[in-house]
Amino acid sequence: MVPKGRLPVRGPSRRSSSSTLIFSILIICLFFVLILLALGILSIPRTSNTFPGAHDLSSIVQRTTESVRSDRSYSDRWTEVISWEPRAVIYHNFLLSKSEDECEHLITLAKPHMEKSTVVDSVTGKNKDSRVRTSSGTFLARGQDKTVESIEKRIADFTFLPVDHGEGFQVLHYEVGQKYEPHYDYFRDEYNTKNGGQRMATVLMYLSDVEEGGETVFPEAKGNISAVPWWNELSDCAKKGLSVKPKKGDALLFWSMTPDATVDPSSLHGGCPVIKGNKWSSTKWIRVNPYYT
Ligand SMILES: *[C@@H]1O[C@H](CO)[C@@H](O)[C@H](O)[C@H]1NC(C)=O
Repeated sequence: MVPKGRLPVRGPSRRSSSSTLIFSILIICLFFVLILLALGILSIPRTSNTFPGAHDLSSIVQRTTESVRSDRSYSDRWTEVISWEPRAVIYHNFLLSKSEDECEHLITLAKPHMEKSTVVDSVTGKNKDSRVRTSSGTFLARGQDKTVESIEKRIADFTFLPVDHGEGFQVLHYEVGQKYEPHYDYFRDEYNTKNGGQRMATVLMYLSDVEEGGETVFPEAKGNISAVPWWNELSDCAKKGLSVKPKKGDALLFWSMTPDATVDPSSLHGGCPVIKGNKWSSTKWIRVNPYYT
């Protein structure tokens, strides 16, 4: 039997120790709530500030993509949205261009097979010679070798479009004065869409630097075309639209179709004449359906 007289003595001391515990838990909770609040307050204005209007090229969105492969020099690969109409993104340092040079590799594969470029006749759908396209070029087979396969896999990873929707790489060479007048990559004939359907997106990779000229120009891009940071370095031809300067290893992705699956006339683009040096590039056209090679 516990003597009754003791209870009032033990009671209050137990109560005070448990209220100290509750008080400390409250303080800790309050501390965490403050931290969460602080993070919330910091992140809200940050996200709302980084979405520019669709036509606002003055606040070009720049993002760094973290490398997952530390054994190679992927760390300086980052993306830059340059336009929403057409939808166009630059992948900086997309191809390895240093000790392991994927650009040189593609040029070496293509060099023995270069022929004068043709364009597709919009009436017959057949290839024809043209003055609007004065470069020379050749097609590589899809998955031609390990390097080609690895680049094609990377393109699929970055575009979220499967490898088998892509045509084989076309490698192009432009010498001084050579150009490609503005055109669409999508087809307006039945013949060319039988295999794979419409061309949906294009990945244009620059395999060389060009001293002057050779820019890719989008004359119908919406927005302030002179807001690009490299405006003063552009040739006169390139100043007629939103332009991208060729840089060895960079890739330009643009869409010939809008998200509602209709063709996008703002994707009109051309290759400005090379003024100094020469230009090597490689194109991957990606179809809406699997493309059989
Ligand atoms: C376009 O951008 C340039 C450079 O940022 C600026 O000087 C010019 O005022 C802009 N033009 C318009 C119409 O917003």
